[in-house]
Amino acid sequence: MALLYMSRQTNGDDWRDLLTAELPDLEFRTHPETGDPAGIDAALVWNYPLEELKDYPNLKLVASLGAGVDHVMSVRHLVPEGVTLTRLIDPAMTAQMTEWCLMAMLNHLRNWEGYRALRNERRYVELDVPIPWDVTVGILGLGEMGGDSARVMAAMGYQVRGWSRSAKQLDGVTCFHGHDQLETFLAPCDVVICLLPLTPDTHDVLNARSFGWMKRGAFVINAGRGHHIVEEDLIAAIDSGHLAGATLDVQRMEPMGDDHPFWYHPKIMTFPHAAAFTIPRTCAPQIAENYRRMRTGEPLLNVVDLDRGY
Ligand code: NAP
Ligand code: GLV
Repeated sequence: MALLYMSRQTNGDDWRDLLTAELPDLEFRTHPETGDPAGIDAALVWNYPLEELKDYPNLKLVASLGAGVDHVMSVRHLVPEGVTLTRLIDPAMTAQMTEWCLMAMLNHLRNWEGYRALRNERRYVELDVPIPWDVTVGILGLGEMGGDSARVMAAMGYQVRGWSRSAKQLDGVTCFHGHDQLETFLAPCDVVICLLPLTPDTHDVLNARSFGWMKRGAFVINAGRGHHIVEEDLIAAIDSGHLAGATLDVQRMEPMGDDHPFWYHPKIMTFPHAAAFTIPRTCAPQIAENYRRMRTGEPLLNVVDLDRGY
């Protein structure tokens, strides 16, 4: 049986080398060189056309090469019944995400752009900055990514609050859950960071209404998925002066088109979906372990709940 690589992220050679080092008997195929479809029992997938999955009669495992699985859930009907979907949970990826969120927040709080503008005018002037414990940071999503950012920011002294689907307890974090508590959660936040998975429930969660619940001057950071934000509503909330600005790692259309207003907005900074990377070196062991477990019928790691969608 064989494992099929379906991604354009790399040509697959890195995964082949790392996985065959862990599983010397592994037959590694790279799409579209699929060979006999009946010989495929697992697929490694990332943002790739998945139509052919339904043609692999012995498929047992679909492994997302990312923390998110929205790219698979959006074509769930193509994943045959009984196939297990897994995702990545990787401390290296989580650390990169926390670092990126801190960077985005600190650039705003410590007024990096303001100092750059002053510097460009050769003006040696101090700007006001807040004390960490006077800043309230709200994190949407308290999972692997959001939970780590919340812990690190709380340890740095910020007032941290978090929002999740189910009730949670995290030391130093004021926790809220469910749509009924979203307004209360958002209201005092100076900085709102979105680290949610994209599901039908979280699609468009940041819209004119929820921006209206935020206080004047709040700053929005999104590293979840572009479809968490209604982009026109964000621009309107910033242009009206209600929100201070935004830093967005993800957008509804990636890459953004040349005429996307985010490119030109002075109060919006964008990144090309680069907050946290899938690092083959750190992630290959869990893929290899799951492939081994699948073969021996043991419970798999990092299994996605298909009903929850994340
Ligand atoms: P995770 O461990 O599954 O955590 C998801 C969190 O979101 C959980 O706390 C969950 O609540 C909460 N949540 C889900 N649906 C919700 C809802 N309807 N209302 C309120 N909260 C909800 O996921 P993760 O590993 O932290 O990753 C989160 C997302 O980050 C990924 O899905 C992906 O989209 C994104 N990501 C982006 C990058 C990048 O480079 N930009 C990199 C990696 C990941 P419960 O705790 O109650 O389940
Ligand atoms: C990246 O966006 C991921 O989901 O890993």
